[in-house]
Amino acid sequence: AQRTLVLVKPDGVRRNLVGEVLRRIEAKGYSLVALQLRTADRELLAGHYAEHEGKPFYEPLVEFMSSGPVVAAVVEGHRAIEGFRSLAGATDPTTAAPGTIRGDLGRDWGVAVQQNLVHGSDSPESAAREIALWFPELG
Ligand code: GTP
Ligand code: MG
Repeated sequence: AQRTLVLVKPDGVRRNLVGEVLRRIEAKGYSLVALQLRTADRELLAGHYAEHEGKPFYEPLVEFMSSGPVVAAVVEGHRAIEGFRSLAGATDPTTAAPGTIRGDLGRDWGVAVQQNLVHGSDSPESAAREIALWFPELG
């Protein structure tokens, strides 16, 4: 089985959607391997978003992601990386397909576009790197 790192971002925690996101993950048949509620500091987020450093949306993204607690989860299952990306839907909540987390629950009015409820690792390399960052004890 494959592992992926999932985050319920601060907007998801604030909107009380943690249970709904975890419900969809479990209903799909994936298992939770590790779970934590935590406010990320800038150092952790700099590591997490290293690929986006220098982009115009980097600073607002880190600011938003450290604005409140997130739920971090290690999710395991057959092709879980691709599978969770499919559950999450496209990055932009307006065009994310209905049936996906972002398509069903995401909002992009009155909030910055980085508020799209969830994160999921995008490759086996990212998953290994992100799991080691958020859950060093699993390493
Ligand atoms: P994640 O699962 O969160 O990594 O989303 P993603 O893989 O669909 O998007 P990507 O890794 O390209 O970008 C990471 C996050 O940065 C996105 O989820 C958004 O929250 C934010 N982001 C990406 N592109 C933009 C942008 O053009 N403008 C702004 N403001 N935020 C962006
Ligand atoms: Mg990404």
